[in-house]
Amino acid sequence: MSPILAISGLSKQFGGVTALAGVDLAIEEGEILGVVGPNGSGKTTLFNVVTGVHKPSGGTVLFRGRDITGLAPHAISRAGIGYTFQQAMAFAGLGVLENVQIAGEHARAGGTANPWPTPQALLDFVGLSALGGEKAGVLPFGSLRLLGLALALATRPSLLLLDEPAAGLNDRETTALVGLVRQLPGHGITVCVIDHDMKLMQMLCRRLAVLDFGSKIADGPTEAVLADPKVLDVYLGGDL
Ligand SMILES: Nc1ncnc2c1ncn2[C@@H]1O[C@H](COP(=O)(O)OP(=O)(O)OP(=O)(O)O)[C@@H](O)[C@H]1O
Ligand SMILES: [Mg+2]
Repeated sequence: MSPILAISGLSKQFGGVTALAGVDLAIEEGEILGVVGPNGSGKTTLFNVVTGVHKPSGGTVLFRGRDITGLAPHAISRAGIGYTFQQAMAFAGLGVLENVQIAGEHARAGGTANPWPTPQALLDFVGLSALGGEKAGVLPFGSLRLLGLALALATRPSLLLLDEPAAGLNDRETTALVGLVRQLPGHGITVCVIDHDMKLMQMLCRRLAVLDFGSKIADGPTEAVLADPKVLDVYLGGDL
């Protein structure tokens, strides 16, 4: 089967900084793929280029075989790629449920079967249904992260990109998040997740890709990648 997302030779320069240096990466339908690498290795830039936040300097991105390279973010979102940001984001002055409603208004028509037909059902899924009437701005950090997940799911993605979804969460919240993310492939949503927490990545991902200075240095089964001397080398003194 052809991959849901096929990235070839993707590069991105910011002035003199090479954030991505010709990355090839395939995401298979139905998997939860992890992307790891040291700070500044290009992980967020990879997501930003795939989702149209930044235009690539070179290379191509095919989504279900369609060339989406350099399209505007709204066009890529409508094609079916959802994104949660490294910084938790919502409209602080609006209600929690209202935030999910607004995110869903711009969802594409048709596409994948939507397991969460209403904003309320999405809030139930992420465990925030009791807080639907609260202003998003008063949510504690962990709940704001879960709201971010609900907002991304409201756009009805068939591929969801999660950038450090567990950053700042406590152990209980992280366990809850893992439980939610693991359910997504069963709902027809392929996942690609960035995180520094290798325990989390081992729980979520059968396959890992590793970036270092904008290049992919490893890609394969999680345990094999984490034992790869090249990977250990870039994390030397780090948290592996
Ligand atoms: N908008 C931008 N303008 C200029 N340089 C940028 C921009 N975004 C990223 N960079 C640079 O590109 C490189 C890769 O950054 P990126 O944010 O993709 O790394 P990362 O792997 O996500 O790091 P972290 O683990 O800290 O989130 C860094 O050198 C960064 O300073
Ligand atoms: Mg980042």
